[in-house]
Amino acid sequence: MAQDPTASQRYRLPSLSDKSVLARLATIGVVILAVVACFAYVAGWLSPARLSQARLIDRFQQVDGIHLGFRRNHAKGVCVTGSFESNGQGVRLSKAAVFASGRVPVEGRFSLAGGNPGMPDGPTDVRALGLRFQPATGEEWRTAMIDIPVFIVKEPEAFYEQLLASKPDPATGKPDPAKMAAFSAAHPEFGPAIKIIMSSPFSSGFANERYNALNAFRFINAAGVVTPVRWSMIPTELFAPEDPEQAKSGDKNYLFDALVARIARGPLQWHLVVTIGQPGDVTDNATIPWPADREQVDVGVLTIDRAETEALGNCRDINFDPLVLPSGIEPSDDPLLSARSAAYSESFTRREGETKSPSPVQVPVTGKGS
Ligand code: HEM
Repeated sequence: MAQDPTASQRYRLPSLSDKSVLARLATIGVVILAVVACFAYVAGWLSPARLSQARLIDRFQQVDGIHLGFRRNHAKGVCVTGSFESNGQGVRLSKAAVFASGRVPVEGRFSLAGGNPGMPDGPTDVRALGLRFQPATGEEWRTAMIDIPVFIVKEPEAFYEQLLASKPDPATGKPDPAKMAAFSAAHPEFGPAIKIIMSSPFSSGFANERYNALNAFRFINAAGVVTPVRWSMIPTELFAPEDPEQAKSGDKNYLFDALVARIARGPLQWHLVVTIGQPGDVTDNATIPWPADREQVDVGVLTIDRAETEALGNCRDINFDPLVLPSGIEPSDDPLLSARSAAYSESFTRREGETKSPSPVQVPVTGKGS
């Protein structure tokens, strides 16, 4: 009877004393090390000073504290739903399904900038609107817009530094002027951007405010033509300036309460207006506005007809990542875009894994707007 072959005979394992085998094993080891090094580099372990999404989100937490289950920025908010009725005028600029004539459902969220969900509403708080367009093709479009006309810095590193420089000093409740002066001196775009922002008045509420995407994007139409664009949501409600007396009403949620009450009385609408950039217009610096005479195309109307308290499965669990784009819309070379996408993802991952507390903004469960 034949004897059982040894393992090395059965599988023809080479001998470890063979030099060519050792050389091959060494090569495999080097490849594995290189792969590990690549992962370590991408994760930022080799350069702890490099700005990563984790460090960005740690900075929000350092400034505003950790509020379990809430967004690390724009923590205070309310969910809304409605639709977008495209008029077809966007088709010449972009092949995205959302611009074909017709209506698509929309989910959204109004919010205030800042990482504390319990912050009181205030006259100069930055208001925001995140939207998720859901055309039947499944090619979603998400956008997150704010009500200031330009962003305050052009690069993510500067935003990271500005968050700390503008952290209120516990003694005064205001940012330390010396730290702000040093920040401003190191970031020459900051001063002019603040000037532009201060010269553009805040409206009296969420409903009559204009929301701007600020970062440039690229629209691509069916013929492959690329157009640099920025977009804004322009309200149909009449503008009224912010009244500082409102903040003294004692209602910490006066802006949100007015929005919810307004939606309960009837739908709110905004025009989606696309501004077309010309050669030479900056696309990588959101602190610089494009010249006022640039062509603007009204591509349709957003209708918001329902408000809802943040809860499981509604806008609370959406990440309004500005890089969730359909075919026909692409990012520009603006460095803020990829940083935003990475930071929103980190914030989303942290908050989704945490115990949730009720949102300070509660929509009454009865009535049309609930
Ligand atoms: C480097 C720059 C920026 C950083 C690091 C940053 C960071 C963040 C983070 C962490 C969130 C919370 C995300 C989540 O948990 O879902 C957020 C929300 C938001 N951001 Fe930014 N942001 C930046 C710039 C901007 C700009 C330029 C705009 C507007 C044009 C903007 C508009 C918004 C809006 C509207 C929301 C709230 C979206 C929602 O309701 O979920 N952000 N941001």
